[in-house]
Amino acid sequence: REKVILDVDTGIDDALAISYAVHATELDVLGVTTTFGNIAVEEATRNTLQLLELLDAAHIPVFQGAAKPLFRELKEKAKLFHGENGLGNVQLPPPRTAARQASAAHFLISAIKAHPHEVTVVTVGSLTNLALAIMAAPEIVPLVKRAVVMGGAVTVPGNRTPVAEANICADPEAAAYVFQSGLPITLVGLDVTMQTLLTRDHLQEWRRRDTPVSRFFADICSFYMEAYARAGHVRGCALHDPLAVGAVIDPTFVTSVPMHVQVDTSGGLSDGRTIGDRRPQPAAPPNVDVCLEVDAGRFVEHFLQNVMFRCD
Ligand code: BDR
Ligand code: CA
Repeated sequence: REKVILDVDTGIDDALAISYAVHATELDVLGVTTTFGNIAVEEATRNTLQLLELLDAAHIPVFQGAAKPLFRELKEKAKLFHGENGLGNVQLPPPRTAARQASAAHFLISAIKAHPHEVTVVTVGSLTNLALAIMAAPEIVPLVKRAVVMGGAVTVPGNRTPVAEANICADPEAAAYVFQSGLPITLVGLDVTMQTLLTRDHLQEWRRRDTPVSRFFADICSFYMEAYARAGHVRGCALHDPLAVGAVIDPTFVTSVPMHVQVDTSGGLSDGRTIGDRRPQPAAPPNVDVCLEVDAGRFVEHFLQNVMFRCD
């Protein structure tokens, strides 16, 4: 099984991604690390612990990470999309377990060193923890199998700003640092995630099942879907973070193109934008595999089979 570490800012679609990874027989989730983004890091940790308990997966260790960007102040949380508590204001029982003592960056370093060339790091929040891990232990770069990063918008509009995606925007310097670190990176950005939608019909199926887990997912996703509708996306809500997990479970869900990608850290109008050099003769060699196509039908079906139909 593929060894993965999930780095999350749980978050509604993060919760779906965690559930997808935990249920996937192809994956061995070594641990979950938390960061700020959709919410504060303490809230991300709490949500992650609560969710893992709900999923009967509390044996998976959780490590709390960065509370703020590398060099900037914390931005406002994404409560319009994820609710005040990050989970669409749906309440779960207080966690019975706690996060481990070690920090997220420390866990990343020790797990990567313990399993050289075997660990895939899936980031679905800000890139701060991964940047901190590489800064503290640059020797891990050649030991990481791959980083699959949900973030960016190379060929399509942004979501946090007209040109920038939320996870990159949350800490542009961290993203820029990770992108130039030499790490093998697959970027699962809005270019592909906006094509993978959960619809109202899917929610009905969760409601019909009527188990504690299926009710939870139906409730958080109806909040998410309404937020999407308010933002002008009426067909459904995007499975951003689950697609990053999907790209590890079955890399043929996506098609990527090697590209030189830079992150705008200027603080100006395009701050946080991921700029891919798509010219025939780019100025620098590729540093990122950018996903530009997705087999949305096959991925969504696989996600549903593994998350929705395992709720009983
Ligand atoms: C990303 O931003 C967060 O709001 C989501 O959880 C996802 O990781 C989408 O841009
Ligand atoms: Ca996220």
